[in-house]
Amino acid sequence: TNTRVTDQLKRPLRDLRISVTDRCNFRCTYCMPKEVFGDDYVFMPKSELLSYEEMTRLAKQFVAFGVKKIRLTGGEPLLRRDLPELIRMLCAIDGLEDIGLTTNGLLLKQHGKALLEAGLKRLNVSLDSLSEETFREMNGRGIGPEPILKNIDYVKALGFQVKVNMVVQKGVNDHEVGQMAAYFKGRNITLRFIEFMDVGNDNGWSFRQVVTKREILEQLQENERLVPVEADYFGEVAGRYKYEDSQAEVGFITSVSESFCSSCTRARLSSDGKFYTCLFASDGHDLRALIRSGATNDELDSAIRDVWESRHDRYSDERTEQTAKSRKKIGMSYIGG
Ligand code: GTP
Ligand code: 5AD
Ligand code: SF4
Ligand code: SF4
Repeated sequence: TNTRVTDQLKRPLRDLRISVTDRCNFRCTYCMPKEVFGDDYVFMPKSELLSYEEMTRLAKQFVAFGVKKIRLTGGEPLLRRDLPELIRMLCAIDGLEDIGLTTNGLLLKQHGKALLEAGLKRLNVSLDSLSEETFREMNGRGIGPEPILKNIDYVKALGFQVKVNMVVQKGVNDHEVGQMAAYFKGRNITLRFIEFMDVGNDNGWSFRQVVTKREILEQLQENERLVPVEADYFGEVAGRYKYEDSQAEVGFITSVSESFCSSCTRARLSSDGKFYTCLFASDGHDLRALIRSGATNDELDSAIRDVWESRHDRYSDERTEQTAKSRKKIGMSYIGG
């Protein structure tokens, strides 16, 4: 097996985020705005997507380099056919400790049970608002919060560990921070507030639309007593807090106000098999081409090693209004967050 690798900033490789499809059934304004991802938008043909065999083969190589955690994303991962089959294949990898899935939740009623039976234990569900009007607007598909809330209760009852992600945008849904917190506290589900990020080049980001962790925490503290919780492991993305009067927690993902690049151990694999070393990268390394040209495991290993060892990304540390606008970045739905 391989030895461990570290990058130029001495960061190990611990997590792999795999995007299984670039398609989504939502058109969130901050991710796949309708104006860009319209009816005539051309998504990837099936032949360009990594097959489950190819994903599993790569995942094994990554695990040999020290990856302990795999997260499946998209687009919307539940749109990929037979996803439980992939879960089953990944669960069989020796040395892999954790598999999670990030979804908008719309199709969980349909697929929840099969995912559980395949061995999946953790789900992160994105939900930005409890208000009919705001949520309809934000997801760009006129879908209200009701089906998502029902599905969250459903998968929780099935036995999944569930967390909810809320992207907070100034003037859009920031007035709902308290309501969202109360709702999920009551259900003992961790809610994570995500600072709006300048992912891709399509979401019209500016600092003015960001609501920082500090602002959100201050708002919550008007009604609640919250105490910080130690990180579970090196490089945990969310800063966690626990309510004093309950077991429930909230989290903050502070890519803008307190970047966490110095402990970033995450590699990303796009649905067409490109290996990216940052969410804000502009170019990836084409592992699919390598696989499909008949590369041996050793050849794949050395490609992964070379990319990681030369990595020096720290985009969120360096972010300015200028880089947000001028740097060419890949899209969120393509790389999977
Ligand atoms: P857990 O394993 O449950 O902690 O999942 P996670 O928070 O790592 O994954 P999730 O897909 O739920 O992502 C939550 C938010 O964190 C999304 O907005 C991601 O884009 C963001 N995020 C995850 N990893 C990174 C990262 O390395 N850099 C930045 N800037 N944002 C990240
Ligand atoms: N800023 C912050 N979070 C984002 N997400 C998608 N786009 C953005 C953005 N521009 C979130 C989704 C999902 C997670 C994978 O990333 O809401 O919860
Ligand atoms: Fe789809 Fe998630 Fe992007 Fe919304 S944030 S458009 S649900 S991939
Ligand atoms: Fe990692 Fe890039 Fe996010 Fe920094 S901006 S935490 S390097 S993915």
